[in-house]
Amino acid sequence: FKLPTIGNEPMYKYTPGSSERKKLLAALEELRAQAPLTVPCVVNGEKITSGQAKAQVMPHEHQTVLCHYHQADEATVQKAIDGALTAKKAWEALPFNDRAAIFLKAADLLAHKYRYKVMAATMLGQGKNIWQAEIDAAAELCDFWRFNCKYAEELYHQQPPMNATGTWNRTEYRPLEGFVYAVSPFNFTAIGGNLVSAPALMGKWPCNVALWKPSDMAVYSNYLVYEILQEAGLPAGVVQFIPGPAPEVTKTVLDSPHFASLHFTGSTFVFRHLWKEIGNRIDTYKSYPRIVGETGGKNFHVLHKSADVTNTVHQTIRAAFEYQGQKCSACSRAYIPQNLWARFKSELVAEVNQITVGSVEEPSNFITPVINKVAFDRIKSYIDAAREASDAEIIAGGECNDEVGYFIQPTVIVTTNLNFKTLKEEIFGPVLTIYVYPTDQFEQILDTIDAGTQYGLTGAIFAADRQAVVTASNRLRNAAGNFYINDKCTGAVVGQQPFGGARGSGTNDKAGSASLLYRFVSARSIKESF
Ligand code: ALA
Repeated sequence: FKLPTIGNEPMYKYTPGSSERKKLLAALEELRAQAPLTVPCVVNGEKITSGQAKAQVMPHEHQTVLCHYHQADEATVQKAIDGALTAKKAWEALPFNDRAAIFLKAADLLAHKYRYKVMAATMLGQGKNIWQAEIDAAAELCDFWRFNCKYAEELYHQQPPMNATGTWNRTEYRPLEGFVYAVSPFNFTAIGGNLVSAPALMGKWPCNVALWKPSDMAVYSNYLVYEILQEAGLPAGVVQFIPGPAPEVTKTVLDSPHFASLHFTGSTFVFRHLWKEIGNRIDTYKSYPRIVGETGGKNFHVLHKSADVTNTVHQTIRAAFEYQGQKCSACSRAYIPQNLWARFKSELVAEVNQITVGSVEEPSNFITPVINKVAFDRIKSYIDAAREASDAEIIAGGECNDEVGYFIQPTVIVTTNLNFKTLKEEIFGPVLTIYVYPTDQFEQILDTIDAGTQYGLTGAIFAADRQAVVTASNRLRNAAGNFYINDKCTGAVVGQQPFGGARGSGTNDKAGSASLLYRFVSARSIKESF
């Protein structure tokens, strides 16, 4: 049987007075009234609250606790591993369509029953405004669950291999032997849902199981996502929910001989560390673990002298400052030709100065808080470095205030030094650094952009001149796994722009595409002779 037609989840507009805005505001109020909530580990369907509890606070008012979550200790992680391996048997009893039905149902539950609740959790817990929460916790998560089903189905219906006379060849897609370890980030609620659903769908018989370690800063929204999967019928143990201290949880996981895959989204530093830890244990594993990761970026906008300035200013502000720049895809460096600079600067500064900063609960706030104190201090230190430098200038923003919440103004730095640290290092905050290049040195600046950082995630060229677009596309072919022409470098949509980058940005397996799912199967070729 074919699955139903899959398309992108429609996005709501939340215009003032609309019923969706009222429902969302009611969900925020309800969640506030319930906080602090309790989040358990969930292993084999059993809620475990014996581990040490830790608080997740609201970044826009850090004295308010959203939830206390119980952390998995070594025994809980070990129980999760053993239980997941046992659960494989129940999971394998379900044919693909029935497994897919669980994720399709989960998407419908999210879209129609739990949308506002999960969005409210994402807003209060991860500091998103309404629209950022809608894009992430409603639309993208539904899309991941539905499109993964579609891509998995395509794998099952792909052309079989050719046969010589008297033979019958076929390819069987087996799951990985063991379990998948999914480590998800704070900045997208949707990503956790994808990290576990992609492997859990894959493998014709039997199928994958996963341990899910959510980020400490996104535990509550991730727990709601987990509960939706359970309500949709995911058998106990197929995905185990184990928040906890990263080093301890990870050690127990990687020490297991049944560890088969890491599915990771987070920092480049942590990903490399995990890769080394896996490498150190390689002789203990049955197969080479599949390591799939999406990590950092130092993403660029480059303008050619033929670019449309007003459009580019607008797109650059969205790419640099939406969700306070805490997207791996966020634009954090822009290269502007001298001939456009005066106009670009005046339009940019005027627009940035209009941006309001404040609570997630006030829909007019474009900028809400950064995630926590560590992030606040890190971002502030970059802004302070620019303030003190002789070869850089802050032309907009620059104020930081963490008295109530972790608020940082959208900040624009201009530097004359191509090696200035805010032009080279990932900041993961609302800080954009601009370099103005001589108008006739377009090709040289492309080479500089290409060589400028260790990353290769996203980037955009803005130009009316087609030859300039082609030149940029060719010169920057390895600098961005997601490359945009006259559009901002953020906002990849599942099913439309498969997402991921190479170099220091990850394994480029493209979330929201069939190629990601293929990483979680191990193919067997079978030849039968008659
Ligand atoms: N996939 C997200 C984007 O493209 C991170 O902005």
